[in-house]
Amino acid sequence: MRAVPTLIVRNIGALVTCDPRRGDAPGVVHDAVLIAAGGTITYAGPSDGATVPALTADVVDIDAHGAAVIPGFVDAHSHITWLGERSEEYAERARGVSYEEIGRRGGGIGATVRSTAAGTVAEIRHAAAARARRMIECGTTTVEVKSGYGLALDAEMRQLDAAIEVGHEEDLPDVVATYLPLHAPPGGDREALLDEVCRAGVRAAATRASFCDVFCEDGAFTVDECRRVLVAAREAGLGVKVHAEQRSHSGGAQLAAALHAASADHLEHGTDEDFRALAGAAVAAVILPGAALVLGGPPPPGRRLLEAGATVAVATDCNPGSCYSESMPLMVSLAVATAGMTPAQALVAATAGGAAALRLEDRGMLRAGLRCDAVILATPRWLDIGYHLGANLAETVIRAGLVVAGGEPQAAGDDLSEP
Ligand code: NIG
Ligand code: FE
Repeated sequence: MRAVPTLIVRNIGALVTCDPRRGDAPGVVHDAVLIAAGGTITYAGPSDGATVPALTADVVDIDAHGAAVIPGFVDAHSHITWLGERSEEYAERARGVSYEEIGRRGGGIGATVRSTAAGTVAEIRHAAAARARRMIECGTTTVEVKSGYGLALDAEMRQLDAAIEVGHEEDLPDVVATYLPLHAPPGGDREALLDEVCRAGVRAAATRASFCDVFCEDGAFTVDECRRVLVAAREAGLGVKVHAEQRSHSGGAQLAAALHAASADHLEHGTDEDFRALAGAAVAAVILPGAALVLGGPPPPGRRLLEAGATVAVATDCNPGSCYSESMPLMVSLAVATAGMTPAQALVAATAGGAAALRLEDRGMLRAGLRCDAVILATPRWLDIGYHLGANLAETVIRAGLVVAGGEPQAAGDDLSEP
């Protein structure tokens, strides 16, 4: 473990706090400084009035040269613990074959279960770490990682163990692990699967994971099956989440509301009544604009969820079927272009919203007392996240007070020198 030094980031042109206490979203402070000690922010605010520590040998002093600084992205929904690949499915879908039809023909989630279930923890960790590295290079400092490609209990546990090991590497994103036992529609005995999950699975998962998730969908799992597993998970001490209303209206959102889940995710086929129920039950709504774009169908309901009063998160859903992308900046672009959100709403949803969906109160904003997870951008304009489509503007990534990706910001990078 590297010692965590005192960190100073000075000459910040725009400190994008995503903190509602700083006024209109995304809570920008101009001409600012960010200071951290032991991985925790001690000051995030105007340069005027900051008490900057003395520059002793163990202080890391970074000049941002007027760049914008944002909180590290919190990607609240991913499936990165897979082996094998499904690129041919992508080509098939382009020829007009639906995601569901591919699943019925033996592809889809079932195909990834076949290529992943026998994998060792080391093999799965290796594959997931490569994806996690691309995530942190784009500015993601926390990622939620689901199992779900194991089906059998010990295979699911190997995926959780691999995810946790990835999060222990200090130059990769911090990991929140989620047990996803109801994902691949089981070919055989459904009752046996449910029984094993409720009796043994949730207890084994509770020693590793923070949440239990289910895929509530026509052709996957029913509301009753999902409820049974989530109730058992809650009793074992896990928080709960639901893949809800992704491909059809199946009742997952109302189930999430009834159980006061941490989040309901996808929601493209959700109704305004569903969204009001989520808001009323303080269930965060996670939209996944990459998956919605790739699979087609209704757009992600970002604006409708906000109008219903829900807390919204934007996440990648990084997986081998519906969305192979590690990029949170791309998801911010898509949230604006396809989900009816403003750039400020989308950026807050990708940071503070993600933290809310994971029930993490120590991150997602730049505020004294929170973890110092931050990204120095290669531009003075925070709007360039989203506007500059597909670009990676993360220049320097800081995880818990340590510079973990990128180098020192350049004085006159291309974007900084633009008028
Ligand atoms: O979130 N909806 C279910 N699970 C993933 C897709 C997983 C896969 O196709 O491998 C999703 O879209
Ligand atoms: Fe998913």
